[in-house]
Amino acid sequence: MVGMRSKRSIALLAVLLVMVAGSGCGKKETVKVGIEQNFRPFTYMENGDKKGFEVDLWQAIAQKADMKYELVPMEHGELIKSVKSGAVDLAIAGMTVSNARKNNFEYSSPYFQTGLVVLTSTDNGVIKGKEDLAQKVVATKNGSTAFNYAGEIQGAKIRSYSNVADVYNELKNNTVDAAIFDERNAHDFLQDKAQGQVKMVGETFNKERYAVVGKKRNKYIGKVNQGIESISKDGTYETMYAKWFGAKPDKMPDKIKKEMEYEMQHETVKGR
Ligand code: ARG
Repeated sequence: MVGMRSKRSIALLAVLLVMVAGSGCGKKETVKVGIEQNFRPFTYMENGDKKGFEVDLWQAIAQKADMKYELVPMEHGELIKSVKSGAVDLAIAGMTVSNARKNNFEYSSPYFQTGLVVLTSTDNGVIKGKEDLAQKVVATKNGSTAFNYAGEIQGAKIRSYSNVADVYNELKNNTVDAAIFDERNAHDFLQDKAQGQVKMVGETFNKERYAVVGKKRNKYIGKVNQGIESISKDGTYETMYAKWFGAKPDKMPDKIKKEMEYEMQHETVKGR
């Protein structure tokens, strides 16, 4: 028989346990989140400030998920390494979900869908899309999904750079015939820096879905997913999308996720 007294102390103990668990042992840990210095309009640095759609998005996600965090800006090449080594816990920087990377990384639900595009010099009359790249010199970024895609184009001569700014410079200087990269970033370059010397040709291709990335079996992705879900439901996502892209989103995150899961099971897409 358990006496009144011990029953009460068991109850007290239970309450204490719940309190300790709920408070995360009293202290909230700071999650280190890698962002990119130069991937407009998603994450970039401007006069020492961290800016972009993904910076805003992350702030909202973290708030919903009640996470304390620190944003760590770095170059794209370093980002993947830093996630791998544990120097940062997560990264949000236009990271495309790819089956190939899934062996090493874990992704959140996707929050953005885009694609790749071909860029060429404004006065190039020959290259009208990705079908015209055989025997052409094509610039792209090391280790990106665009690089993987370009590598599969028959006869194309690929030149890859660790910084996308160099890809764009080569285009402007006419030292390459074309470039392949993520559509929104390319669009930003055209508007901002191309000075009319570069154009986008053909259709957007290869679906790219961006998600937060972390090491396999990391403890944060679940919370991040909850955050994404709640900002999608309460209108925050749409407001931010409109702020950065000047329109309503074509697809909300839950729809992007459903389509992605379906496609990843049913087909193999180039560059993944
Ligand atoms: N979305 C492409 C990829 O995952 C390009 C990423 C570029 N991201 C960046 N932060 N520069 O490979």
